Parts: sequence; C-alpha cells; structure tokens
Amino acid sequence: MSLTLTPRQLIEAATQFGTPLYVYHAERINEQYQLLLNAFKTVDAHFFYAAKALTNINILKYINSIGCKVDCSSINEVKLALRADFAPANILYTSNNISFAEIMEAKEAGVHINIDSISNLRKFGEQYGHSYPVGIRLRPNIMAGGNLKIATGHSSSKFGVPVEAIEEILQIQRETNLHIRTLHIHTGSEIKDVAVFAKGIEVLLGLVKFFPELDVIDLGGGFKVPYRQDEAGTDINQLGEKVKEEFDSFEKNNKRHLQVWFEPGKFIVSEAGYFITKVNVLKQSGNIAFAGINSGLNHLIRPMFYGAYHEIENISNPNGELKDFHVVGNICETDTFAEDRILPEVREGDYLVFKNAGAYCFEMSSHYNSRFKPAEVLYLNNRPQLIRKRDELDDLLRNQLEII
Ligand code: LLP
Repeated sequence: MSLTLTPRQLIEAATQFGTPLYVYHAERINEQYQLLLNAFKTVDAHFFYAAKALTNINILKYINSIGCKVDCSSINEVKLALRADFAPANILYTSNNISFAEIMEAKEAGVHINIDSISNLRKFGEQYGHSYPVGIRLRPNIMAGGNLKIATGHSSSKFGVPVEAIEEILQIQRETNLHIRTLHIHTGSEIKDVAVFAKGIEVLLGLVKFFPELDVIDLGGGFKVPYRQDEAGTDINQLGEKVKEEFDSFEKNNKRHLQVWFEPGKFIVSEAGYFITKVNVLKQSGNIAFAGINSGLNHLIRPMFYGAYHEIENISNPNGELKDFHVVGNICETDTFAEDRILPEVREGDYLVFKNAGAYCFEMSSHYNSRFKPAEVLYLNNRPQLIRKRDELDDLLRNQLEII
C-alpha cells in the first residue's frame, strides 16, 4: 500500500499556507525510489532522478539524502544539483541541442555528459580527446510515449544522434580517440510497455561491440505512472527481470559487464505531489456547471497542453451528492482542467485537490496574466514546511528595468 497524504493533512496545509498550493510528500518519494531499487536489485542498476520534473532545492536535497543520483537537462539544473550537494560523480547531464560552450561548462563541473549531436561529439573529441569519458544520446527510431510531444525516440524526432549515423560516430572515435563510455536513449515519457524498453536494450546492446571502453547502457526515463485509479503503470518488476535476463546473457556471451542507468522523473515524484486549489465561483450555463478555481494553465498546464488527466478530489465535501462539473481556471483563455468530471457537490470555497501533481506541474508554471506562482510545501516526518514562498508583486517586476 503506497503512502498518501490524507485530506486532513491537505486541509491543514491549505489552512496554514493558503491556496493555490503545491504539497509534496517526502516519504512517498523515498518509497518510489525503494520500489526501483527492489525491482532492479539483481542487476548493476543506477538511478538518476530527472530533475526537470521538479527542481525545488529541498526536493533535490531530499533525493540526494536517500542515495538517488540526479539527471539534468540544462547547465542550470547541474548547478542546482551541485548546490543540493550531489557529488559530480552522481550528476548526469543529458541535454539536447545545446551549445558547445555549455558542454564545456558541464565538463569543468566534472559531471557525466551525454552528447546528442554529431557536431558536438566531434568538437568534444577534438577538444578533449581521450581525457574525458562521455556518453552518446542515440535516437533509436522507436515510436513510444504517452503523446507526440513527449515521444522522443521516433525517426523524425529532434532528439539524439540517429542510430543510422553509427559510421560517423565511429569515425569520430577513431579520429579523435574519444573515450565513449555510455550509450543512451530516452524514447519518451509514459511508456507502459516493457517491450518498448526491451526493444531499446536490443538496439543498444547490438552496438556495444563498436565501443571497446563502453561500460554503461543508459535507458533514460519514461516509466508510466497511473493517473487514473483503474490504470496501470509500467510493471517495473517485470522490467527488472527483463533487464537482468538481457544483461546477464550479454555478459555471458561477450565477457563484458555493463551497468544499466535510468533517469526516472515521473516515477519518483509524480504521485508524491498534490495541488490544492479553492473554488472561486460556480457558474451555471445551460446544463453545464462550471467550477471556477483560483488557478489556471499558469499553474498546471498538463491538462491543456497534453490533454492530460489528473484526478480531482473535493476534500471539503467528500460525501456530497455526486454531480457533473467542468473544472476551469481563471486565465484569460480557455483553461479547462476537466470536462464532465463527476465530483461530490462542489460549493464556492471548497478545496479541490489535483493528484499526481509532483512531476512537471509546478515546474511548468508561469506568471501568465501576471498572476503569482503557487507556494510549495514539503511534508517531511509528518510536518508540513514551506519550501517556496508565494510570489509578491515585486517578483513580477524582478529583472525589469524601468526606463520610462
Ligand atoms: N531523461 C530524459 C533525457 C528526458 O528527456 C526525460 C523527460 C526524462 C529522462 C524523464 O522522463 P520521465 O521519467 O519523467 O517520463 N512535461 C511532460 C513530460 C516531458 C518529459 C521530457 N523528458 C509531461 O508533463 O508529461
């Protein structure tokens, strides 16, 4: 049974810190990490939390404290990870389409780097030769992921070096004596099917023979988490068994030991997050009942951007009569969180809580309509603590220069 925060705890946090409010549950994050360790305990597996899902410095520090490593998608995330005291050896930087200057900065920081273009790979080889091991992000030409925006491994995606460019990679290896340590893929987010990971493993293991110094296969992130009550996520135990089978057999046949790395974001933090909002107004329009909340696409864009489903709970009136609502925001364009959602009767002033709000929720928020970003709270040892203050007007003006 997974750890959850109770409605009472959420109401307590909302009363103390106001709404809209993101609340994260530290112990649940640890629980997810332990599930991974357990599922992969018989393989040489290493987990790098994909920080892009949620970068609050306290979340990063907590994740470091439980022994998980970290994967970054920008040099700023690398700097945040260093600030959270991750050792450079526990930081991975998997970028796409970045400048070589940024790669040089990551190299100076001493972190693992996955390079995703022929152009930067050649520059890296010419600059550093054999002195600094790197990984190559490949595009395996596998279509996978919950929707097209988060499908990254298919044959027309911008990500990685296409596998068909293997000859060019080998030429760079020969000409610059580049030390290639890792082959990486990330085929998409929300991949339920273990067979997709198996296909990726097959592509990568087939290439290992070209890289004498390679000792890591990095399979990226993308484990699916359930967003609906009746939905299943990736079966990580089954995946663990599959990885063991494939890697054991590779080791036996090739007398080479390989580590396997993963970069899970959603799996680690999605279910540990709750977004608490308050109902501003009810509006009846024909047979539609709108519940207008004190939030919008500026705080949680996943439903509007991806058509993502987030379960909503009316924690103020759990036993109310079930009715049909359109839950909408207060932004100046259509920002529908949920259409025809059956909820216990929603009243003005009720707290509506969005589940699965740990990953890519606060992180994708903005100041659109000059509204403040929500505050963030971490529940740790059963105690809610503020980890990000609510914005103030000065936050909207910060970095603006008044020249008139
Ligand atoms: N590694 C790389 C190289 C990635 O690009 C990503 C996600 C991950 C790991 C982590 O994937 P995860 O385990 O979280 O699925 N904003 C979207 C998700 C975008 C994912 C981008 N890359 C959403 O809210 O669904």
